[in-house]
Amino acid sequence: MSTIQWFPGHMAKAKREAIEKLKLVDIVVECVDARIPESSRNPLVEEIKSNKKHIMVLNKADLADSQSTSRWINFYRSQGIEAYPLQAKDGKGLATVKTAMKKMMQADFDRLAAKGVLPRPIRLMILGIPNVGKSTFINRIIQKNQAETANKPGVTKGQRWLKIGNDFELLDTPGILWPKFEDALIGKKLAVTGAIKDTLLQMDDIALYAIDVFKESNPEGLKRVYRLTDSDLEMDNPQILMKITSNLGMKDDYDRASERLIYDIRGGKLGTYTLDTPPVSPVVSKVEADA
Ligand code: G4P
Repeated sequence: MSTIQWFPGHMAKAKREAIEKLKLVDIVVECVDARIPESSRNPLVEEIKSNKKHIMVLNKADLADSQSTSRWINFYRSQGIEAYPLQAKDGKGLATVKTAMKKMMQADFDRLAAKGVLPRPIRLMILGIPNVGKSTFINRIIQKNQAETANKPGVTKGQRWLKIGNDFELLDTPGILWPKFEDALIGKKLAVTGAIKDTLLQMDDIALYAIDVFKESNPEGLKRVYRLTDSDLEMDNPQILMKITSNLGMKDDYDRASERLIYDIRGGKLGTYTLDTPPVSPVVSKVEADA
């Protein structure tokens, strides 16, 4: 999707719309990028979701370092947040997320059943910053048994519910919130992962940041893709970028080489990676997206 320019007016509108939609649902599904779970969270999501039931999906888990994802999941769970890894693109993890959402609603439905009220589908909306995979999630979850229900009273004009089997109804448009802006490092992380595509940052600045990270975390990936040697990696970052540029046959076109490097990293060509370091805490258990 194209980059949204987030001016204060747009942010206020996005917040208002998200809060309006939230009133209609039982559970808000907060979608973040597993490679940057904290950096891809909207700063106000806690406030916006208020006391609604909340589940967090760490999407694009296929592109993230699996151990870091487990650590992040365990961290969020230790904070009382239901968190799950997900691969919306191929649906891995979705069944587990659905089961978890049913469990979250069980007590409410049991209470209603005691009063003779029949169970109804669980109403969901998905919320998150651009490019974390919200539309992919919607398309994936409605792939089977999808039928659109009519507009319901009180629903924003044009807002439709997508029926997912007998158990869920999903608002067809996600709540889109703005990314974090306040910190240059977060900006670079968002740019490397593609959460913000056109950025005010220079491509070579982002590439230099990425080289710095990969030199430490995955030098083999850099060496393999750009035919670098161990001694190349001992040079400083601008020199490494020059070497990559020349190895790509791009002479001194550092901008083009930077773009290629970032594109390769976004697509996982250098291997999996997580840019947000999980808080230091023992990994309680390994958490993977189930089939
Ligand atoms: P949004 O609604 O939150 O803005 O995000 P959207 O679903 O448009 O997804 C943004 C990009 O992330 C898309 O790639 C999409 O395919 C990709 N994506 C979503 N979920 C996953 C996942 O689980 N794993 C991986 N690897 N990628 C995922 P794109 O390059 O913009 O489009 P396309 O080339 O896939 O069509």
